[in-house]
Amino acid sequence: FQVPDPRNEPVLNYAPGSKERAALKKAIEEARAQETDIPMYIGAEEIRTGNKKRLAPPHDHKHTLGYFHEGDAAHVEQAIDAALAAKELWANLDWEHRAAIFLKAADLLAGPYRYKINAATMLGQSKSPFQAEIDSACELIDFLRFNVYFMQQIYQEQPASSPGVWNRMEYRPLEGFTFALTPFNFTAIAGNLPASMALMGNTVVWKPAYTQVYAANVIMQVFKEAGLPDGVINLIYVDGPVAGEVIFNHRDFAGLHFTGSTAVFQSMWKTIGQNIHKYKSYPRLVGETGGKDFVMVHKSANAKEVSTALTRGAFEYQGQKCSAASRAYIPSNLWEDVKKYLLEDLKTFKIGGTEDFGNFFNAVIDERSFDKIASYIEQARKNPMNEIIAGGKYDKSKGYFVEPTVIESKDPSSVTMCEEIFGPVLTIYVYHEENFEDTLELVDKTSPYALTGSIISKDRYAIELATKKLSNAAGNFYINDKPTGAVVGQQPFGGARGSGTNDKAGAKVNLLRWTSLRTIKETF
Ligand code: ALA
Repeated sequence: FQVPDPRNEPVLNYAPGSKERAALKKAIEEARAQETDIPMYIGAEEIRTGNKKRLAPPHDHKHTLGYFHEGDAAHVEQAIDAALAAKELWANLDWEHRAAIFLKAADLLAGPYRYKINAATMLGQSKSPFQAEIDSACELIDFLRFNVYFMQQIYQEQPASSPGVWNRMEYRPLEGFTFALTPFNFTAIAGNLPASMALMGNTVVWKPAYTQVYAANVIMQVFKEAGLPDGVINLIYVDGPVAGEVIFNHRDFAGLHFTGSTAVFQSMWKTIGQNIHKYKSYPRLVGETGGKDFVMVHKSANAKEVSTALTRGAFEYQGQKCSAASRAYIPSNLWEDVKKYLLEDLKTFKIGGTEDFGNFFNAVIDERSFDKIASYIEQARKNPMNEIIAGGKYDKSKGYFVEPTVIESKDPSSVTMCEEIFGPVLTIYVYHEENFEDTLELVDKTSPYALTGSIISKDRYAIELATKKLSNAAGNFYINDKPTGAVVGQQPFGGARGSGTNDKAGAKVNLLRWTSLRTIKETF
């Protein structure tokens, strides 16, 4: 038999007057009307510790979305025990039954849960309706469906045999339990990291960022309604270092699936390295970490198209996509026009809460992030080589609002040109239009990351040169487009260098990390 052919979930546009818009508004109202009490899910239990942490929309400090119950080291141990206890039955379940659960979860998200998960992402993470739709609905649904398709492809691959010998490949889950540590910025990633490991027969301890717990709770409800057995995915809210101390010292720790900061990934990798003798197997480590994603423009480009790529690439979801454009290189012949269009576009952005669908631009995720972004803006303001040509203001009185900010820098190695900011700040370096090749060198050398990047050009020779010269500068390289918005199954996503292990999310190569192969040779 064959699993269903995966197709990308169509994106709803929530046009004014549409029934989808009315349904999403209703889901938001319902969510706002109650304070959700969010337990941890360990084995068959819902755990309420009483140590409650308040959740508020990043754009509206005064509103309480609910409370989640924080756990401690004992809950991490309990989650590991639950994962290990569930392992044998789950690992031995025929794979089509694992597939059916996640296909059903995808259908639930596409149908009855669509508005609920989008509302949760809009309120909990301050995403606009469109940004929520392409994330918590479409991308998560796509991850679940494409993963099933890739899993079948993997299981079908078998080695050659010869007369008198039958060789087989057995695809087993990793021995032990696995750990998913997920970020705030994509509900889809938060769901995909534990789900992809579980699909391949592993049992998982899942710890989301505290700023994403509100939507994580909905994902867990979907998995449960889809029939995921108890203990296969255990959702805990425990302080990172406390969880790490228990997990990375455990003999059965078998794999880490992470999206988050470079510093955290490197620190976990070091701890795991130091503990390597304690484990039964070498743990699989998969991480998608930082980025300083670029847009490189050639003198042949169309200025309006460049401006659109920059505004969308840099400022959708407040620049908090790991793929967001945060440095751009514009040739001098185009700069005047690009600047004009860019400033015009930015004037049309409305800023505010996600409940008003007219707002293109919402708040950044939390105070720590707000303060960090503000300090980068101030640093840039003080540098005489920089000019802030748009935005530059911020205000955390009602919510964590930072204006979309554009800095023109005469120094291609200035701080905001090189360091990851993870917010709505774009730094632009204007190069002499004849220095295209030298500027490509600059793009390659400027940052330690290599996640996404774009070349915008009408000249095929320039496109070819950029593609070759920047071959290690981005795991996702876009020709004549913004560097964000990878679609599952179409642009497998991930980067190398300081950006991660490049085990593309939603791709066969990623799922292969969660299986341990046994080769069987039988001689007749
Ligand atoms: N997959 C997300 C994007 O491409 C991060 O924007």
